[in-house]
Amino acid sequence: MAIHSAGTADLAEDLRAALRTLVRTVTVVTAWHNGRRFAMAATAVSEVSLDPPSMLVCVNRSSNLYAAIESGCQLALNVLGSEHEAISRACGGGMRNDDRFTIGDWDHSDADRPPILADARAVVLLDPVSHLDHGSHRIVVGNVRSVLLPARQAPLAYCDGRYVGIADRVATM
Ligand SMILES: Cc1cc2nc3c(=O)[nH]c(=O)nc-3n(C[C@H](O)[C@H](O)[C@H](O)COP(=O)(O)O)c2cc1C
Repeated sequence: MAIHSAGTADLAEDLRAALRTLVRTVTVVTAWHNGRRFAMAATAVSEVSLDPPSMLVCVNRSSNLYAAIESGCQLALNVLGSEHEAISRACGGGMRNDDRFTIGDWDHSDADRPPILADARAVVLLDPVSHLDHGSHRIVVGNVRSVLLPARQAPLAYCDGRYVGIADRVATM
């Protein structure tokens, strides 16, 4: 087994392979900015604390969403369910910009908040409060403004470069 060191391209490739082994829940980050709506699939999403209630998301600075991120506007983290693979594919680069909202039941009725996926497993509305730029990405930390729990359905997960379902229970001996 080859061991690669910091600063080599091989190390980044090894890390990519290691990251593919993680099972990650898929989220779509949405925002309004300058009269435009944005949606981007993201797995680099995490809780930060409950005091204050806060979460983070890592966004590539080359993404279209980054313009909204830079403005510090409110974000919605829409947690996808097993029925939402096509939405994830669209928002992960399969479709462009506004076309992404043609797939799925998006609620834009409230102009004061980002688009909300009507049947998401959960939606967390974030007010960004701080950030850290690291390499290609911006880590955005936001305080939670509100939480919606629209629908109960199985989660959509991403692992080994493909979408996978998660069994409801782990079998026990
Ligand atoms: C399952 C999945 C997870 C992703 N996670 C992230 C992420 O956490 N952060 C990120 O910046 N891009 C992530 N991406 C990549 C972006 O969704 C993708 O590059 C998207 O096309 C960027 O939007 P844009 O084309 O409007 O710039 C992910 C893509 C997929 C399919």
